[in-house]
Formats: sequence, structure tokens, C-alpha cells
Amino acid sequence: MPKELKFPNNFLWGASTSAYQIEGGIVCDWSEWEKKNNKRLAEQAERYWSPAQQKKFPEMFDPENYLCGQAMDSYNQFNEDLACIKELNLNAYRLGIEWARIEPEEGKFDRKEIEHYRQILQKLRDNNIKVVLTLWHWTMPLWVHDQGGWANKKTVKDFCQYSELIVKELGGLIDYWITLNEPMMHIGHGYVTGKFPPNKKFSLKNIYVVFKNLVKAHEDVYKIIHKNFPEAQVSIAMTTGFPEPACKWNIIEVIMAKVAYYFRNDWFLHRVGKFIDYIGVNYYHHDRIVWYPPFKKNLNEEIDDRGWELYPEGIYYVLKGYKKYQKPMLILENGTADADDKLRARYIKDHLKCIHRAIQEGADVRGYFYWSLLDNFEWAEGYWPKFGLYAVDRKNNFKRIARPSVKAYAEICQTNKVVID
Ligand code: BGC
Repeated sequence: MPKELKFPNNFLWGASTSAYQIEGGIVCDWSEWEKKNNKRLAEQAERYWSPAQQKKFPEMFDPENYLCGQAMDSYNQFNEDLACIKELNLNAYRLGIEWARIEPEEGKFDRKEIEHYRQILQKLRDNNIKVVLTLWHWTMPLWVHDQGGWANKKTVKDFCQYSELIVKELGGLIDYWITLNEPMMHIGHGYVTGKFPPNKKFSLKNIYVVFKNLVKAHEDVYKIIHKNFPEAQVSIAMTTGFPEPACKWNIIEVIMAKVAYYFRNDWFLHRVGKFIDYIGVNYYHHDRIVWYPPFKKNLNEEIDDRGWELYPEGIYYVLKGYKKYQKPMLILENGTADADDKLRARYIKDHLKCIHRAIQEGADVRGYFYWSLLDNFEWAEGYWPKFGLYAVDRKNNFKRIARPSVKAYAEICQTNKVVID
């Protein structure tokens, strides 16, 4: 007998995107960084990816793969995206606003772009789709980059000014706010591994300054939003993960896993303390931590195209871990890179099963957003990883093509339940 897992009434069923990864035609720190680094990224592909990945995605050796360009042309094709959202029976959608479009030059705000976003948000409202809006998803205007990005205290003030304008102009059309997407990822890849702009490696001085400025930026924008909309729901989309010791009797691995868990899941939240109304959870990973380099050794019985091990139980532990904050939670990203769509439907169901279990045990989860609605520009990996429920034919007028898993997810969203065979 199939078992039915019902989700709470008014549960939000959504999909997520970010501005830079789908809109196209944006000039910002990333667009300039790619142009300087795309050849290097193509040359290094052999070093980073397995022979199987290299064989399956030869485009990783093509420098063009690392240039965002027109992305998925969502700037011009929002109606197409909306058709996908409706086909999926979603009642919520997460999207981003691009700071570089709104304020391409310091202090010069572009009214035309504000109106562009207003139209999109209004269409979502007209279709009864709740909006989760991200104000900053890793990219910044060139002038902000040139003044030192988040390592410069002035950026906090500038971010507040941009955010205040958005709040005043568009705030009435927003249901849930995200000030910052995965600040720890920006710190980790921007200032520790050097994989993302501004490419700093183990820059200890910067790490703490950037952390402090990001915390302050969140707090100040939180206050601005609440001053204008006292009932607003404001949060951060947190990079979460479930690091666990490979051997639970090995005290060093136990401690290392605890430290990794704290930095990934809790450090930022502890610092912003009371300035959050809900917790935004992005979950993709678990890692088995070992005491010797490279410090993780996953079983990898089943991995996706990106090489990430499928480990749905991890989301259960993350949600249980977040219960201590006594806040509602939204899963704002959960997804898999799966070009052949062999794993996706099961991936979604298996994660929802674990989320349902956490809800049964008291976790106040109010919604689930799959990453991503469309295939998109996957940052330093470029275009080869395919996270989308919809593929996009970038050579044929960016046509959106439903993958088979669309049907499975659309049914879950429509019925508010998961059927387990
Ligand atoms: C980011 C997304 C990204 C996804 C998959 C998340 O950490 O927020 O922008 O596309 O991971 O790589």
C-alpha cells in the first residue's frame, strides 16, 4: 500500500532562482571577473573534475562555458518563467533583485529597472504566487567592488540605501525577504579558497571584517524593512550542511565535525540573534569528516553530476538542529545537478520524506523551494551543471523544456502531499 505524507495547510511549494544566474546582460563584479578568468577555469577543469564528469560534460573545457552572457534571458522572458511556475502548480517563487541594475553608478538609481521588477512582482501577485525576494545573491555593482566590496564598511551604508529604495518602492509586493544569500559561502570562496571574486586566499584579516560587515548589513536592512512593514518576514538564506564524523569513536573527527557544523549552520545566525523572523535553509550536502587531508571521505554510493553525494537524511538533522531557535523555517534551496533527470524526482521525494519527519517531530517548516526552476549559470562551474526542473535551449531562443520530473513535482505541489510507494 502506498503511504501518503500530508504537508501542513498553506504549505509553500516553490522554486528558487537568483538574478545573475538567469536574467542575462548584467554588468557587475562577476561579469568582469569571468572575462579575466574563463580561460584559466577551462584549463583547470581536468584537475578538478573526475574522468566521468569530463567525458559527460566536455563543455567544461570550453572558455565560453564560464561566461554568463545572456544567462537564461529571464530578463526578457519572465512570461515564459511564469508559465513554468504555473505548470508546476507552485504557490510561491523565490527570485532576486540585481543591485548592479538598480544602482549601476554610485547614487544613480535606475527608475526603469525598478519598474521592470515591479511588473514581475505584480504579475506574481496577480497569479496568487507568494514572493520570496533576495536583495543580495553574491554579485555587486562594479563601483562597490572597486571600493573593496564587503571588506569596506561603507558598503554596509550603500547596501542599506539600495535596500531602502527597494523596500519603499516594491515592499508592498513582497511576502518574505532575504537580505543576504549564503553569506558564509561568499566569505569561504571569496576570502578563503579564492574560488570566487574577489579571489583572496586565506585572507584572515578580511574574513572577520567581511563577516562583521555582513552581519551589520543584515541587521540594518532588517530594521529598515520592519520600520516600513512591521509585520514583514525577514531572514538570511543560510548555507547549511551536515558534517558528521566518519568514525563516531574518533574524538578528533567528532570535534572537527562539530566545529564544521557550527561554522556552517550556526555562526552567522548566532550573531544576528533576534534580527530574524524565520530561518532560510539551503541544503545540498552532507560530509563525512576525517582527520587527514582532504578531511572528508564520503561513501559516494550515489552521486549527482556535480559529484555531490545524495544524502537526504542530512536535511532532517539540520532542521532538528535549528529547532533551538524557535523560528519558522523555509527550505529555500534544495536540488541536484542531474542533466539526464534520472535522480531528480526521487531526490525531491526523499528529501521531502525527511522534511516531513522533522515536521512530525516539531520542526516548524512552512515551505519547500526546489533549486532551481531553470538550468542556470552555476558560478565558477559555468553552464555544465544542470539543476533545473526545466532545461533551457540557449541556442534556440532560450526555449524552456520541461524535464520529466516536472510532472512529479507538480503533482506534489498540487496535492500538498508526497506518495511513497
Ligand atoms: C547557491 C546557488 C547555487 C547553488 C548550487 C547555492 O549555494 O545559493 O546560487 O546555484 O548553491 O550550486
